[in-house]
Amino acid sequence: MKKNQFAVALLGAVLSVSLFAEEKTAEELVKSMKKEDITYRQLMNGMAMAKNNIDNGIIGMNKMLVNRGIDFIRTHPAPRAKPWVIMGKDDQEGFKSMLVFYDKKMDEDVEAIEKAVNKKDWQKALEASNELSNSCLSCHVVYKDKVQYIME
Ligand code: HEC
Repeated sequence: MKKNQFAVALLGAVLSVSLFAEEKTAEELVKSMKKEDITYRQLMNGMAMAKNNIDNGIIGMNKMLVNRGIDFIRTHPAPRAKPWVIMGKDDQEGFKSMLVFYDKKMDEDVEAIEKAVNKKDWQKALEASNELSNSCLSCHVVYKDKVQYIME
């Protein structure tokens, strides 16, 4: 095997291993969550309520309200079917990676909000909540209009 061919083969192996690992992680992530009899869109309505609680809580300097929203984002359930069934075949793998990435990112975002609120630093909490908005929007910009199926 020539050097180039070997490099290509190696790259292929690495890519397929990491793709497989990713897939497993998305499956595992969903498995680790409590399942609720709701669609993915209904889960998103819960996310929107949580975000509202956080933002209104920060503006009203109301820790209880902020914590309610944080708690939902941390412990949110999985919908009744695997989230990626709403995407077309070609978009499923990418959406899985997004789910894994943003599940962790949103946990980090709410942790930053929580820390700021515990210090009663409402300005900083607002900034941290804007970071959370970025996480929501980043996924939406790429995937919200790619939804092809309604979750049964
Ligand atoms: C991993 C990707 C991803 C992340 C992160 C994400 N969303 Fe979504 N969201 C979606 C997709 C996909 C849809 C479209 C669902 C559909 O139409 O079935 C959606 C739809 C929505 C909708 C519209 C629901 C409806 O009834 O049409 C709202 C509101 C929403 N998301 C809020 C949020 C909020 C708030 C956050 C952050 C706290 C968030 N989302 C984070 C993927 C994501």
